[in-house]
Amino acid sequence: MTSPISRPAPRARRAPGRRPAGDGGQATAALPLVIGGERRETGAVVESRDPAHPETVVGTVAAASPADVRDAFAAARAAADGWRRTPGPARGEILFRAAEIVAARAEQLATELTREEGKTLREARAEVARGVAVLRYHAGEASRRGGAVYPSASHERLLYSVREPLGVVGVITPWNFPIAIPLWKLAPALAHGNAVVFKPSEVTPLGGFRVAEALIEAGLPDGVLNVVCGDPEQIGGAVAGDRELDGLSFTGSVRVGDLLRRRAAESRVKLQLELGGKNPVIVLDDADLDLAVAETVRGALHATGQKCTATSRVLVTPGIVDAFVERLLRAAGALRVGDPLDPATAIGPLVSGAQHARFEQYLAVAAQEGHELALGGRRERADGDGWFVSPTVYLDVDPASRIGREEVFGPLVAVMPVDDLDAALAVADAVEFGLSASLFTRDVGQALRFAREVRAGMVHVNSETTGAEPQAPFGGMKASSAGYREQGDAAAEFFTHLKTVNVDPPRA
Ligand code: UN1
Repeated sequence: MTSPISRPAPRARRAPGRRPAGDGGQATAALPLVIGGERRETGAVVESRDPAHPETVVGTVAAASPADVRDAFAAARAAADGWRRTPGPARGEILFRAAEIVAARAEQLATELTREEGKTLREARAEVARGVAVLRYHAGEASRRGGAVYPSASHERLLYSVREPLGVVGVITPWNFPIAIPLWKLAPALAHGNAVVFKPSEVTPLGGFRVAEALIEAGLPDGVLNVVCGDPEQIGGAVAGDRELDGLSFTGSVRVGDLLRRRAAESRVKLQLELGGKNPVIVLDDADLDLAVAETVRGALHATGQKCTATSRVLVTPGIVDAFVERLLRAAGALRVGDPLDPATAIGPLVSGAQHARFEQYLAVAAQEGHELALGGRRERADGDGWFVSPTVYLDVDPASRIGREEVFGPLVAVMPVDDLDAALAVADAVEFGLSASLFTRDVGQALRFAREVRAGMVHVNSETTGAEPQAPFGGMKASSAGYREQGDAAAEFFTHLKTVNVDPPRA
């Protein structure tokens, strides 16, 4: 795929028969970088393209240089002390206001999100609503910063702990949740008193720039939130490597996560990583069949399978496997793939040509590996059309195969017959990931055993593998995550230091 970065700024083109770029067909100005109090145009832009109509530029943002990133960190450092000293409730007020601003713009944001990422409008609306809920949760948390008083060995000593901000944190987010993932990192970072340098994905930058705008409009002081964007290696690398960095929160690929892990070991930067998944659903003989099918379809295929929590393996016991597979194929085959703005569409396109090529590579791998193709597996686009693919299901997949082990990040399901829950648990664990896992059963004993034994950070009984409520911790085991959980009260553990204080009266 060609890089989305181009110099100098091209005017957004209008392809024949396509929706116009920007609003009302006018090529709109690039959204500027935010550096301290300054809105910075750079003469270079990152283009956000519509995955349903790849010729159409939905909007552009300014592309940063490494010097812009350095300026952003200098601005964050200059603002960090003032923000640290701003009382929690006052910080929370700003986040509550940002939530209202985002809520008031929900429809506009959701439409732009659909146009830049390709998820359906229904999914985009849900993502914006989730962003609002995340902002409200962390706005409240700003008044609830933890700490404790401990009994001291000395009667006169006051022994207590407080949470303090890290200082300056970097936030690097992926393209699949352009609004929600930025907010679930930015909201706790800011609530807990950190200044931030934020780099949204260069594939879907608009959502991140929009929510940053809302936070700044809500009253963040200059320099507390700085926004840059650009080439992931150069600009992401500059954010991750800046000398002012005290903490870095990243969601993205395992490859980049491993790189960041090595770098953080040298620099001692505090690190939070959310990476991949190969999430299993286990369906036992006694499952509610309709529920198991409906939830598997949602988990595997909604958002076109582009969630780190997406279901990609389905492990089914012998008594139910035929009925399950038959219904799964019927339900998945009935989903309408198409224009994500059309309310009748269930599955939008993949986000980009690069992801489309990756999906096609996996179809080729599956063909080589000889899995039984039961649904989909076809190229769904004519040249010039969107990055559409159809839901794809393979049966009898060998758990040790590449299709059985590797994260595809598309609407691809590998069905694996298993003898029982024990066998399913062993197969579930036979991959490098441990993010999310679901079990469908009516047997509470099996459910409890699954919850106890499965090696996954997010466990579901009788619901699909994706989704997360903002008040509960989110994260995985093994290669899926590193460092600290996101969300809920766990977010404070990453975005703060715990300081223990001993106060004794003077001797004299
Ligand atoms: C969800 O399951 O709704 O990048 C959230 C991702 C995850 C978030 C998944 N960090 O897909």
